[in-house]
Amino acid sequence: MAQPRILILGAPGAGKGTQSANISDEFDVEHVTTGDALRSNKQMDISDMDTEYDTPGEYMDQGELVPDEVVNAIVDEALSQADGFVLDGYPRNLEQAEELEDMTDLDVVLYLDVSEEELVHRLTGRRMDPETGEIYHVEYNPPEDPEVEDRLEQREDDTEETVRERLRVYRENTEPVVEYYDDQGTLERVDGEQAPDDVWESVKETIEDAA
Ligand code: AP5
Repeated sequence: MAQPRILILGAPGAGKGTQSANISDEFDVEHVTTGDALRSNKQMDISDMDTEYDTPGEYMDQGELVPDEVVNAIVDEALSQADGFVLDGYPRNLEQAEELEDMTDLDVVLYLDVSEEELVHRLTGRRMDPETGEIYHVEYNPPEDPEVEDRLEQREDDTEETVRERLRVYRENTEPVVEYYDDQGTLERVDGEQAPDDVWESVKETIEDAA
């Protein structure tokens, strides 16, 4: 199989980052993630773009979407350098979905389906190792090494208040994107509420069948 071009959709906390890491390893494709790209550029000066705030970080810390102009440029640049990829965090609204159609074709569109109650629990318990970027969960997936446990950090937008706002923004802006791919008949639904290894089995099988 040529390197597949995969889009992974799902609400905040659905497990996109977790499964994208597996996909990237297994299928030898680039993990293109707008969340990580924006977190590395939180202080970037965007004041010349006629936006409400002057940096991406000000949008992110409130759980709001960063303006399309900023995100479209990041994705366009990243996809132009990748043969195969797993795209995570984009498109987040219908305008971005239309932009993406002009940038590339997709082989597989995955959707990780998880209930809202579970999403809140996952996000407020998520921790990240700042040295390796590895994602953990205080209850579902704690690190075995106590040294790693000591250095874990919580993302600034994973407080309960910001998580609720991110879910509201998701329902308003990104659920229509899921419907858009569903209407096209390209959406592959995966039950994201299973244990991580079982979700991975379903994801892998779906990609192998569809790509
Ligand atoms: P982004 O970083 O994309 O965040 P998100 O979409 O909110 O998704 P998350 O990374 O929070 O969740 P995930 O689905 O990757 O879950 P994970 O695998 O970590 O975006 C952040 C911000 O950037 C946005 O709010 C916005 O401001 C901006 N932004 C980004 N893209 C943008 C765009 N296109 N346009 C405009 N603005 C944009 O898993 C979560 C937790 O659950 C972990 O602790 C994990 O260990 C655990 N877990 C995972 N799977 C399972 C399982 N099966 N069972 C139990 N626990 C599990």
